[in-house]
Amino acid sequence: MAKKVDFLIVGSGIAGLSYALKVAPFGKVYMITKANEDESNTKYAQGGIAAVMYQPDSYEKHIKDTLIAGDGICNEEVVRMVITESTERIHELIEWGANFDKTETGEYDLAKEGGHSEHRILHHKDNTGFEIERALLAAVHKHPNIEILDHHFAIDILTQHHLGIEVNSKTPGIECYGAYVLNLHTKEIETILARITLMATGGAGNVYSTTTNPSIATGDGVSMVYRAKGQVEGMEFYQFHPTSLYNPGEKPSFLISEAVRGLGGVLKTIDGKEFMHKYDPRGSLAPRDIVARAIDNEMKIRGEDFVYLDCRHLNKEEVIKHFPNIYQKCLSMGIDMLQDYIPVVPAAHYMCGGIKVDKKGRSSIQNLYAIGECSSTGLHGANRLASNSLLEAVVYAHHAAHDSIEKIKFVSHCENIPDWDAEGTHHPEEMVLLTQTLREVQAIMTYYVGIVRSDLRLQRAFDRLEILYKENEALYLKTTISPKLCELRNLINVAYIIIKHARARKESRGLHYTVNYPR
Ligand code: FAD
Ligand code: SIN
Repeated sequence: MAKKVDFLIVGSGIAGLSYALKVAPFGKVYMITKANEDESNTKYAQGGIAAVMYQPDSYEKHIKDTLIAGDGICNEEVVRMVITESTERIHELIEWGANFDKTETGEYDLAKEGGHSEHRILHHKDNTGFEIERALLAAVHKHPNIEILDHHFAIDILTQHHLGIEVNSKTPGIECYGAYVLNLHTKEIETILARITLMATGGAGNVYSTTTNPSIATGDGVSMVYRAKGQVEGMEFYQFHPTSLYNPGEKPSFLISEAVRGLGGVLKTIDGKEFMHKYDPRGSLAPRDIVARAIDNEMKIRGEDFVYLDCRHLNKEEVIKHFPNIYQKCLSMGIDMLQDYIPVVPAAHYMCGGIKVDKKGRSSIQNLYAIGECSSTGLHGANRLASNSLLEAVVYAHHAAHDSIEKIKFVSHCENIPDWDAEGTHHPEEMVLLTQTLREVQAIMTYYVGIVRSDLRLQRAFDRLEILYKENEALYLKTTISPKLCELRNLINVAYIIIKHARARKESRGLHYTVNYPR
């Protein structure tokens, strides 16, 4: 028996939660989330959220910095919209209960990160995302119209395809009717019919071997929409954060926030020499694509596995006040960041592309919205400016919610969707078929589709992935559905799209750097 709801939200990070709070007065909301309700990329965000708060900063300066980082392919209209609404959305987050650090004079304490020309990052120590997630969840729990269904895994969105009508990417008017969802408490696959569906599933860092993203980041939303023949764009632009703590085997990789470099931390090679000025006059605080590529280059030239971040000259009180978690984490590994160098390496961090949406968060599929990291709005272009993603999520939650509230008046439930058919599937005999395939996907992506690419590497990646794709699709058809199986399928899909988009871009731009088409 299908469940029916007005708004179905997939994902409980900043994007899903802030949208939920806005649409809840207008209908019943189910928020499904595949793990514990707070598990998300949002929870791990450290540096903060970018917004224009005081002079001498201005919207024009923040717009200019965003456009420069995006390397010429941001949608300027979108950039203007997001940034000019930043102050208002921050005040809303504060009203919902999020706390940001203040100075002794009572103003917000604004930090600086790579590519920003002014101090404009609002933060809560070095765990801003944790604080935002806490506040939004508390607000959502108070709303009688919102029901959070944790440990519910969205498998696929429902479209005309499930009514037996064939659709392809050229079919006009593909419609979304909700989703098939695996209830991990009962192990049943439920049909959830919704009048409006929101995809807020976050990123896909686990497509690479080393990532700052938690294990939930497997590109499920992008993959579901791609399978449903919705438009996905910009996936060649996968952002690597320059400074994750070098600790082989630790998953996810622990982030050393860019704000540490904002306070004066300097990158050095293992022999203690600064190197960033060889690559960019902004040194250690150049935009991320430049810093990550410079580190990658130095490591390759020197045959070393990491570089150092030097914070020994920084003020002890300031470091402990602003970065208590980073300080403690380093100490737990025997590194006192005020006396010792911190070993760091780049790690996959943020998916700049995703489900193509318009300024209202509408995807190419009717009644399906996408916001947050799984979406591609045009804000980031070829490279995201630090701390612009939390901002993008709240601005688009606002626009998508307003549009959804209008749209839902004209949408009714689809009645004829059949229940999930598990006929002929069995439990997997060997989990190694999944775990080893995942490692292979991650290795292909890391070595052939990482920070530096080439036509030959992309061709190899494509050929090898095709074998894994075929093997896994065959397995999928005969295996009982589980999150691990679906996540692997989704990661293979995401890897395929990244490679396809990377091969189509015959130039180096922003995060997509290829030796065949250097700048
Ligand atoms: P998420 O917060 O990732 O939420 C996705 C949700 O979808 C989760 O609840 C997940 O369980 C759920 N989900 C996924 N698939 C399914 C499925 N199939 N079924 C059901 N549920 C599903 N950005 C900044 O702006 N500033 C920062 O300082 C910053 N620091 C960062 C530090 C780290 C370590 C990381 C990893 C990211 C950081 N980012 C930062 C990026 C930012 O945190 C994310 O882009 C943002 O939080 C994404 O929010 P979201 O709501 O779109 O997705
Ligand atoms: C960081 O704190 O360095 C992460 C900021 C971001 O990803 O925007």
